[in-house]
Amino acid sequence: MSILVTGGTGFIGSHTAIELLEKGEEIVIVDNLCNSKIEMCDKIKEISGKDFKFYKVDLLDRENLEKVFKENDITEVIHFAGLKAVGESCEKPIEYYHNNITGTLVLVDLMRKYKCKNIVFSSSATVYGKPKELPIKEDFPLSTTNPYGTTKLMIEQILTDIHKSDDEWNVIILRYFNPIGAHESGEIGENPNGIPNNIMPYINYVAADKLDHLNVFGNDYDTPDGTGVRDYIHVVDLALGHLKAIDKIRKMNGQVEIYNLGTGQGYSVLELVQNFEKANGIKIKYEIAERRPGDIAACYADPSKAKNELGWVATRNLEQMCRDSWRYTEKNLK
Ligand code: NAD
Ligand code: UD1
Repeated sequence: MSILVTGGTGFIGSHTAIELLEKGEEIVIVDNLCNSKIEMCDKIKEISGKDFKFYKVDLLDRENLEKVFKENDITEVIHFAGLKAVGESCEKPIEYYHNNITGTLVLVDLMRKYKCKNIVFSSSATVYGKPKELPIKEDFPLSTTNPYGTTKLMIEQILTDIHKSDDEWNVIILRYFNPIGAHESGEIGENPNGIPNNIMPYINYVAADKLDHLNVFGNDYDTPDGTGVRDYIHVVDLALGHLKAIDKIRKMNGQVEIYNLGTGQGYSVLELVQNFEKANGIKIKYEIAERRPGDIAACYADPSKAKNELGWVATRNLEQMCRDSWRYTEKNLK
């Protein structure tokens, strides 16, 4: 009996794989390595001290994905695999819809064929669009502003419809807030291609002298210091949320459940910079720049549903997130 982890060599998937293995779960990883490297498999084995099967397979390749189901007794799937860059999704919507939506359809069709009807899906707080109120609860209205976000919303709908058609399916949708940080070993972390778009990798590049300064996108938002506020969550806390989701799905009896995975605490861009400086003793040069189109002022979770129903809370604070991110970057970027 194994958990299939799609996208398991990626940023969140690799951290989750380690926690699953350390807990004693059997896992099988499928990844086409379009945004990760094969070396990640050795790192996961090294850190966890456990072995697992890896298949370099694209979810769109039905024939080879079917082999994974034939050769293993898959009882649950954690579905991370997908393309995730918001800007790129606006330039390449066909590729994003095809990869994320068709990939998921091939996967769930095989799950049905092999009678594995338990899926945990990686969604995003981006599905809340511009929230009218804070903190954000799971039943808030949903909307999206870019093809990436729309793929998340569409997959949520697809999984809900599958459950409606066959109530043997158990679906857990996890809406992540802003994952940052890295494994405390410093061996694995986030490794974006090119110049980073997201703030934490960008700050790390500035700290490593790869970039001159951080552009703070707007200081005239309706927030305490005028800069954007987000719910940053340590990737290991996020990974542990998946273990709780697996425990839950094994007890479910034909349900769809949605959980916010965030800390519930919002921090501004300037607070993040200050925490990074304090945690690592490195000054981060920054300049105030124009607002970035599409950004919202503030976004943070009400994580109480995950606490009450999964028994999950994030425990790592912002300083730890900054320390762990930098430890990884310092070791791997220079
Ligand atoms: P990532 O890019 O590091 O990992 C995704 C993995 O999926 C990569 O290893 C990639 O090679 C693989 N992949 C992509 N398409 C595939 C396909 N067709 N077949 C097989 N493998 C494929 O991303 P991540 O940050 O680890 O995110 C994991 C999931 O969480 C994604 O679905 C993402 O949209 C979602 N998510 C991420 C964030 C974030 O900030 N990182 C926030 C919210 C939601
Ligand atoms: C982005 C994605 C979202 C995804 C999330 C987590 C967009 C519009 N949304 O969210 O779909 O789920 O990442 O990966 O891209 N900032 C700066 N300077 C920078 C970079 C960012 O000031 O160089 C600010 C932003 O304005 C924002 C905050 O930092 O206030 C966080 O930005 P970012 O890390 O890109 O995440 P989000 O935009 O929240």
